[in-house]
Amino acid sequence: MMPILFGTSKMNEKTHLEIGGCDTTVLAEKYGTPLYVYDVACIRSQARGFKETFNQLELESKVTYASKAFTCIAMYQLIQEEGLCCDVVSGGELFTALKAGISASDIAFHGNNKTYAELKMAIDAKIGTIMIDNFHEIELLSSILEEQDQKQAVMLRLAPGVDAYTHKFILTGQEDSKFGFDIKSGQAEEALKKVLADPHFDLIGLHCHIGSQIFDTEGFKIATEKMMAVMMDWKTRYEFVAKSLNLGGGFGVKYTQEDDPLEPTAYVKEIATIVKATCHKENYPIPSIWIEPGRSIVAEAGTTLYTVGSKKEIPGIRTYVSVDGGMGENIRTALYDAKYEAFPADQSGDMKEEELVSITGKYCESGDMLIHDIKLPKLEAGDILAMTSTGAYGYSMASNYNRNPRPAVVFAENGESRLVIKRETYEDLTHLDLPLK
Ligand code: LLP
Repeated sequence: MMPILFGTSKMNEKTHLEIGGCDTTVLAEKYGTPLYVYDVACIRSQARGFKETFNQLELESKVTYASKAFTCIAMYQLIQEEGLCCDVVSGGELFTALKAGISASDIAFHGNNKTYAELKMAIDAKIGTIMIDNFHEIELLSSILEEQDQKQAVMLRLAPGVDAYTHKFILTGQEDSKFGFDIKSGQAEEALKKVLADPHFDLIGLHCHIGSQIFDTEGFKIATEKMMAVMMDWKTRYEFVAKSLNLGGGFGVKYTQEDDPLEPTAYVKEIATIVKATCHKENYPIPSIWIEPGRSIVAEAGTTLYTVGSKKEIPGIRTYVSVDGGMGENIRTALYDAKYEAFPADQSGDMKEEELVSITGKYCESGDMLIHDIKLPKLEAGDILAMTSTGAYGYSMASNYNRNPRPAVVFAENGESRLVIKRETYEDLTHLDLPLK
């Protein structure tokens, strides 16, 4: 089966996988494996796609990259180059974004349990927007703003009660969710009253996010309609006019041949059409439309390179091929039963003889799987295996389980590679440890 080649990926004249003009077998040699390689041009084009769609629709908009999908200093700088804003969900992400030089006003802060210290840090930095998630946060944030004698632009995160089709762990917009104020029970309205009555808040708009890896526009359509209905209602009853409407992220991407996602821009068009039409009909000023794509900006741009090691054939049952990484740098198969594809980065040998194998990692547990059942050319120890579409929620969810160091990350563009996250060393692993005595 032909591998899926994303972005600038291609097989070069040596029949080696090339990403961003760089031969991946050379990258594996130079930087070692496991290695995350990002196709920078692919990230740029995804980012531009969103911005251009809004421009074509002549709509005011903000594309805030959901940095939880993958981030580091260079990544923040890249999205800044492309004119995107970003959202952060922790003090750590905020710190990294600021350190990367992102202007605080271009940052939005999410989370269902932001701590005092995190909120204080955000306010001190003069962060652009805080997305208020719950009643506790209204009180906490208000008290910090009072202490600091500051006013803060905020959005209210609402749970619109939409069950978008995706893995249950990554659903967020349904009523039974830990995120946001529920609309149906009246909590959202109660939150609105509190925020409007508090002089420390400048309520600039409303937010919702219905889930992740969503393949059709139906969920977005329903969520947008529900949010618009709330906006019309609150204008009539509270004279509140939302300057911005943030409809979150969640646009699906292609992991395997079976996935058939829409162009990310298709979701934007659907959302925008509903917003425009409702505003015209109801004589409501068109709000600035914000979206928060994470996965759709980085997933397909990322490829993980592994070196094949041991192989175990259990006659009639399964053949395990082990690679030098696993659930440490990619826990998505173990956690969500996520599906991926892989192929040898060097295809100059005999690719005809295929076998059905399962790709496993080097971690000490049976759940440490990367791919269950995939037909691959016969692999031998030392071969470089490229696992595609690993750019989102891979490195960002990495752990040091079994005290394995986290891998390095390289950006490839126009034939040049740049190390953007160093490989962790054993020294790094003991860096925080203190002796018994
Ligand atoms: N905005 C909010 C408020 C979110 O909670 C998320 C993701 C996003 C935007 C970005 O969604 P995206 O465009 O990336 O789908 N670890 C899981 C995904 C968790 C998503 C959490 N929230 C995974 O590996 O599939």
